[in-house]
Amino acid sequence: MRTQDADDIIQPINELTGEKAGDQCNVCHIAPISLNSPAAIQTGYGYKFNHNDPLGHGMFPNVGDDLTEFQGSAPYNVSYWPGTKIRRQIRTHALELAESKHGKAGFTCVTCHDPHSQKLKFGGDEDSDKLCSSCHAEKDSDAHKLKAHNAVDIKCTDCHMPWMKHAGGRGHRYDGRSHSWDLLTPTDSLKGFDLLRPYTEKGADPDAQLTKDWQSIQAIKDLCYDNFNYPINVVGCVKFDILPNACSSCHTDEFPTPGVFTDAERAKLEEGEKRLETFIKLTK
Ligand code: HEC
Ligand code: HEC
Ligand code: HEC
Ligand code: HEC
Ligand code: HEC
Repeated sequence: MRTQDADDIIQPINELTGEKAGDQCNVCHIAPISLNSPAAIQTGYGYKFNHNDPLGHGMFPNVGDDLTEFQGSAPYNVSYWPGTKIRRQIRTHALELAESKHGKAGFTCVTCHDPHSQKLKFGGDEDSDKLCSSCHAEKDSDAHKLKAHNAVDIKCTDCHMPWMKHAGGRGHRYDGRSHSWDLLTPTDSLKGFDLLRPYTEKGADPDAQLTKDWQSIQAIKDLCYDNFNYPINVVGCVKFDILPNACSSCHTDEFPTPGVFTDAERAKLEEGEKRLETFIKLTK
């Protein structure tokens, strides 16, 4: 039934509560492939009613669907940065939020984003710090951020929501921000480095899936790495990328280069760890 009667329209704030809170945004902002879809749907079609499986769903969840049935949460895919539980796919904002302290405090997308304009609330669209400081005023200080950083007008989001997510298919490297708000450290980057490196070395187990993945990347190496922003195939090419962390976007000497597993590369990440130790001492 088509209607414009307010009583017939779902009012997200009033009606989507509990498990359903935030689903008005999740219908699009969640990993787009349903785990129980037939292959044709997985390769790109939206939901079509299937009388053989009337309760099945298409690539996007509907209000009330279990988000864990969608690809962002499948353990076997590229959802997590290697060696961590840090989500790397772009459409996992909802899952990250649910797992975060903000999620546990009952936040939904519209706690921070205006639902109609997508602008940040609390004046955050002109300066995202205004959003964070509306609740965490005490952190907006040299004591937390460090004087040298305030001098360059650093934002909370620079450290707490770095660009580190991939979109599948047509996206590009690191075009989504972390929505866990946890600090992603150089140590987290190192975990991925140490986990993946053995599969890139001579003598790697030829039957291991990761060895095969590395070899497929090597076959199209230039296409995967030469154009940093736009690798030819985001899903295949980025399997041996290393998590960019809270500090590496500005401290670029410590930015993990995708697909490079030399000692010098590892030393960069260790420098990052030392920098973080220094920061923590300076801000204690
Ligand atoms: C019908 C699908 C759909 C729904 C529902 C939806 N979004 Fe989006 N949203 C998109 C798409 C597609 C983009 C990316 C647009 C682009 O790449 O330019 C986007 C982009 C955004 C952006 C980034 C805007 C920018 O300037 O970069 C934010 C923030 C956002 N959405 C928040 C929300 C919130 C909050 C909700 C729920 C209140 C929501 N969206 C509901 C499809 C949707
Ligand atoms: C605690 C506040 C907060 C919550 C909750 C939140 N966001 Fe965001 N979001 C931000 C901030 C801050 C930015 C960065 C905006 C900027 O760069 O100006 C952002 C950026 C984005 C972007 C654009 C960058 C990217 O990662 O692609 C999208 C899309 C987005 N949010 C979607 C969502 C969705 C969907 C939800 C709910 C599942 C959500 N956000 C919940 C604060 C929040
Ligand atoms: C509406 C109020 C509100 C806003 C806006 C808000 N926060 Fe929070 N934040 C909270 C609450 C409540 C908690 C949970 C505190 C707890 O459980 O100890 C929290 C927790 C956190 C944590 C701790 C996470 C952890 O794992 O220990 C960080 C980091 C954080 N917020 C950063 C931010 C940043 C960055 C922004 C801006 C993008 C922001 N917050 C916006 C209220 C807010
Ligand atoms: C230069 C990077 C940087 C910036 C900028 C930054 N933080 Fe942090 N933040 C950190 C680090 C490092 C920690 C400690 C993380 C840990 O111990 O795991 C932290 C911890 C936190 C925590 C949780 C721990 C606690 O003390 O309760 C909150 C909340 C937080 N920051 C909020 C903010 C907010 C809000 C802003 C902006 C006003 C901000 N931060 C700006 C680096 C930063
Ligand atoms: C938005 C960019 C940006 C981000 C993000 C950033 N920094 Fe910085 N940082 C700077 C700039 C600019 C300076 C001053 C010039 C320099 O020393 O390189 C600086 C300086 C420092 C210094 C030296 C301060 C001094 O007084 O000697 C430390 C330590 C530091 N950063 C640690 C960190 C850590 C740890 C992180 C991640 C948690 C981080 N930074 C994230 C831009 C950034």
